[in-house]
Amino acid sequence: MTNLPMLGLTHGNRSAVTCHLKCDSQCSRPDPNPSTEPTFAEIAGRQLSRRAVLAGGGALAAAAALPVVWPERAAAAPRPGDAGPLAFTGIAPVSEEADTLAVPAGYQWTPILRWGDPLFASSPAFNPNRPDAQAQALQFGYNNDYLDILVDPRGRTGLLCCNHEYTNRPIMFPPTAGADEEAEVLRTLMAAHGFSVVELERRARRQPWRYVRGGRRNRRITASTTFRVTGPAAGSPLLRTAADPTGRRVAGTFGNCSGGTTPWGTILSGEENFQGYFRADPAARGSKRYGLTNTPSVYGWEKIDPRFDATTSAYANEPHRFGYIVEIDPSDPSSTPRKHTAMGRFKHEGANVRVDRDGTVAAYMGDDERFDYLYKFVAKRKYRPGKSAAARRHNLTLLTEGDLYVARFSGEQRPDGDNLGRGAWVPLVLDGESTVPGMSVDEVLVFTREAADLVKATPMDRCEDVEPNPTTGKVYVACTNNTQRGVTAGKPGPDAANPRAGNKNGHVIELTEHRNRAGATSFSWNILLLCGDPADTAVQTYFAGWDGPVAPISCPDNVAFDTQGNLWISTDGAPGTIAKADGLFKVPLEGSERGHVQQFLAVPRDAETCGPVIHDTDDSVFVAVQHPGEEGTWAEPRSYFPDYVAAGQRPDRGDWRGPRPTVVQVTKKKR
Ligand code: FEO
Ligand code: CA
Ligand code: CA
Repeated sequence: MTNLPMLGLTHGNRSAVTCHLKCDSQCSRPDPNPSTEPTFAEIAGRQLSRRAVLAGGGALAAAAALPVVWPERAAAAPRPGDAGPLAFTGIAPVSEEADTLAVPAGYQWTPILRWGDPLFASSPAFNPNRPDAQAQALQFGYNNDYLDILVDPRGRTGLLCCNHEYTNRPIMFPPTAGADEEAEVLRTLMAAHGFSVVELERRARRQPWRYVRGGRRNRRITASTTFRVTGPAAGSPLLRTAADPTGRRVAGTFGNCSGGTTPWGTILSGEENFQGYFRADPAARGSKRYGLTNTPSVYGWEKIDPRFDATTSAYANEPHRFGYIVEIDPSDPSSTPRKHTAMGRFKHEGANVRVDRDGTVAAYMGDDERFDYLYKFVAKRKYRPGKSAAARRHNLTLLTEGDLYVARFSGEQRPDGDNLGRGAWVPLVLDGESTVPGMSVDEVLVFTREAADLVKATPMDRCEDVEPNPTTGKVYVACTNNTQRGVTAGKPGPDAANPRAGNKNGHVIELTEHRNRAGATSFSWNILLLCGDPADTAVQTYFAGWDGPVAPISCPDNVAFDTQGNLWISTDGAPGTIAKADGLFKVPLEGSERGHVQQFLAVPRDAETCGPVIHDTDDSVFVAVQHPGEEGTWAEPRSYFPDYVAAGQRPDRGDWRGPRPTVVQVTKKKR
């Protein structure tokens, strides 16, 4: 790849290739948040509506007078890494150049699904020598990210649900001879994006899963699948295009990063770096704030589909139709997936739902951009328990209507890094009305970053996964990194919630809602982890007060919980910061082991660890291994994952079929 804006500038956390493909080298551009004003804990800077002051600023003032409230329900007895279900002895850090998938002693790994695996009876076999869009639309997509494994009640069958975030043309297919062949490559890349639902089966519990080719519920969603738009901005003139004058039906989803699984059995998927798919008028509203430029897009789809050229009046609004949380019902392959405008438009990493004991439904969401924000959506209607068709129909409406908030933090820096403080959820939409002066509801929901700027939300260090712990209700915010904090003139410096300048290793915030209620408008928070290698004395680290040895950990990205309430963290960026492979880590949150970070797994060369799914009562862990060998080319691969193991050794060059992004399961070996 010749045009790599981030070559030599990757801030030591990601390869220039990944930067180019994944986020259009966003870090090489000015930060889309133009704010240079101090915003931390500031309330009085701008005139808010009376409602906003009452519900937002008032909440912060009230929060300042509140004690820190801890949850009412205690976690299960804490377990060290080597006790209880899924007991393991942590692995040693693995070199960033190793092309291996490392798991603890006594465990084994097997692939479940690899890019190109045929999903339907009619699917052609995988053939990376010949790009074929129709074939790809019937095969597992590329660069698996969000993952869940939903086990059916009897335990022998299940569903694998997975995002396909982006593609890497130079590594996937050989060079082509002409424009027609290259157009087929572009169509194939469109079909390799999106989402997969695939049925699984196994002989018995604790046995490895296999995927079912031709499973009744198998489904591929691609950059062309029809989505229905829901919520207050559905039908808005801001969403209308020549191909969709209704503003209610959108073709496809892409840039789908992380997500969440709802208690009613659907999957939420975050449309993240959508800007890399368009060329657009830089003077158009929102272009600058969302990083849209009038340059050839990273993927080049505008060469085969005019809607990706938003410089034309016909498709000026097409970028407004991406950047949402989408909801997919994996139980019904004929259902129309939906984009929920009520949850706002930004570079959505994902969304994770918590249902309170009174049925209140909250969804926590991060905007994965340096100096962007943390959000919460609170549904208007309450969750209806039970498995009846009526309950399910009701619950499928929950994310279409509700209040949207953005977080404003205050607090104090402490010498050990155990910072803490309070915060407010500042409303952007409340009871169906905009609380942002000068912006209508549909403007708030389409230009959400702009709205959050106006209410002076706290600029964060790239919120990735934001997830409530099902055991305690506390919310964990993975701030993956922000190398520009306190470094770039005019940009915010460190604050208590984002305490390190040039934050290359990232941190994790532990957030407790006021009275542990999902619908609270204020919260308390503390730092759980300041990530890094504790052996590197140039970087301040903090591990929730644990002072024994820990596994070095950098760039926390996706998080998950086991049934004991322990936190599991997957990473994206450790090679450049601590010169180790990315991996999966377990962190107890309660008791004497709190903060004791241990490494469970490391991924192969150039790969990032995505997904994680922890089925500890099944002695199983699942990860989506994304972009293995990313810095290689078709001719010069840098990884042979995963088929080197299936073949027992590295295959001959003549047989080369890799690397392939793959969903992997890790299970305990039988004694
Ligand atoms: Fe796709 Fe926010 O990482
Ligand atoms: Ca991510
Ligand atoms: Ca997660």
